[in-house]
Amino acid sequence: MFEKFKNWCRVTINGRKWPMLDFARRVVMIKRHQYVVRMAAEQDIREIVEIEQAIYGTAPWSYAAFQIELRRPHDRLYLVIVDDGRVVGFIGMAVDWYRLDLHITNIGVTPGYQQKGIGTYLISTAINYARHTQLHSVSLEVRVHNLVARKLYEQLGFREREIKHRYYLDDHEDAVDMEADLLNKGEQR
Ligand SMILES: CC(C)(COP(=O)(O)OP(=O)(O)OC[C@H]1O[C@@H](n2cnc3c(N)ncnc32)[C@H](O)[C@@H]1OP(=O)(O)O)[C@@H](O)C(=O)NCCC(=O)NCCS
Repeated sequence: MFEKFKNWCRVTINGRKWPMLDFARRVVMIKRHQYVVRMAAEQDIREIVEIEQAIYGTAPWSYAAFQIELRRPHDRLYLVIVDDGRVVGFIGMAVDWYRLDLHITNIGVTPGYQQKGIGTYLISTAINYARHTQLHSVSLEVRVHNLVARKLYEQLGFREREIKHRYYLDDHEDAVDMEADLLNKGEQR
């Protein structure tokens, strides 16, 4: 009985049936370099965690945390960018079907591949995906001191909503809560 209820919740929200999140594998050119972008699978988690370790010196999200995320295809979508068979970047998204918001949970590009346009591509892809899915907004939190990421998000149409004080559990840094409003035609790119 409970299993049946869970399955019902999965796809029927507010009386509407929502699709499982899906993304077709594709080959993309980013700044004249060819990559594959596709949905992340459990076999990718080890490389994703390695990217986190290379970026932060530690992995803020554990293997188990990513595993739980990848097992929620009704409201989570994780994409990886692959070069020569190696995962070089990833983005995590969570859809809130009530608020019609796509929340970017996590994004990372391995250090040797940064400043090659991959971050811009991943965020733009998230925005396009949200539009295509007829969501109303894309949101994220970013550390106050992460000026590179904040500038990137602003360039792509995100605006600051509020400061979330002491948001991060490890060092209590404040987060800037940002949103791209997809209903505001003036913000579209
Ligand atoms: C933020 C991040 C995802 C951006 O990815 P990226 O692939 O480097 O981004 P892009 O190549 O598309 O560059 C976007 C802009 O940021 C700038 N930028 C990226 N890395 C930079 C760096 N280390 N120093 C200075 N500028 C940088 C680029 O020059 C570009 O600016 P421009 O458009 O004015 O030229 C990546 O730097 C990263 O993984 N950082 C560590 C993890 C992180 O901060 N995640 C965000 C958490 S909210």
